[in-house]
Amino acid sequence: MHAKIGRNDPCPCGSGKKYKKCCMGAPNAAGLNLPETFLKRYNIRLKTPEQVDGMRRCGKLVMQTFDIVRDLIRPGVKTEDINQAVHEFTVKNGAYPAPLNYHGFPKSVCISPNEVICHGIPGERVLKDGDIVNVDITSILDGYYADCNQTFFVGAPSPDARKIVDVARECLRLGLEQAKPGNIVNDISAAIQTYAEGQGCSVVREYMGHGVGLDFHEAPNIPHFRSRWGNTPLAPGMTFTVEPMINLGGKALRVLDDGWTAVTKDGSLSAQFEQTLVITEHGFESLTPFEL
Ligand code: MF3
Ligand code: CO
Ligand code: CO
Repeated sequence: MHAKIGRNDPCPCGSGKKYKKCCMGAPNAAGLNLPETFLKRYNIRLKTPEQVDGMRRCGKLVMQTFDIVRDLIRPGVKTEDINQAVHEFTVKNGAYPAPLNYHGFPKSVCISPNEVICHGIPGERVLKDGDIVNVDITSILDGYYADCNQTFFVGAPSPDARKIVDVARECLRLGLEQAKPGNIVNDISAAIQTYAEGQGCSVVREYMGHGVGLDFHEAPNIPHFRSRWGNTPLAPGMTFTVEPMINLGGKALRVLDDGWTAVTKDGSLSAQFEQTLVITEHGFESLTPFEL
């Protein structure tokens, strides 16, 4: 997968030199090829085609899990019921739910209704007509991770619910449009921030997209806002998530006493969509695809 960049193309490592004069095949001036350079310079593990294939298989299972979740979501359902269904389906298919016991997280999936930004813990909360709810599923299959989330309407959405869900979905779509070799992380970040703020919404700063594949959270961070850490070049074989959290009101958040649940400080609605992707020769492939 990393071998197909043209000899005379700019080196994906970001040096500004031609690929053939830098990281192509044989070592560059520092004695390193492209995967070695990304590991040393950015701590990023570029994936081999075999590793991407493992992630793709895991992503397929995650998307099948969403088929079950989508059918469960209706007024009156408890978030714990969704957790049970995700856990059972994942384990039945020979996979493991990555959130369970991750840094002490107590459940198998994150479920975040309304003002909950992310990391909601499933429990006795009952979803009601007019709610929105984000379900964030990450599975581990044969050692490979795929991470995906979507926000759903419960019953009939209010105008505010429609607005924030539409803006969050469009943010992911516009971010992914920038995911290609030759671009840098900041191109993704800026596209998302510009659109969200142009719609009068705000972008959460405390949580970001992330490298993923052999671990739940790998380098690099993928901020959904312009940042000084956004200069990392995008190269074929990079696998990461884009997962903008967008608030209808202000960007400020607070974490509840359970140590996980992040809520908007002003109580406004928050929505999010996430996909796991791999940078390819000309763009990207989503490993957890759904329509945007
Ligand atoms: N799935 C979340 C993400 O997109 C991380 C959840 S961590 C957990 O990065 F511990 F809360 F599960
Ligand atoms: Co993620
Ligand atoms: Co996630």
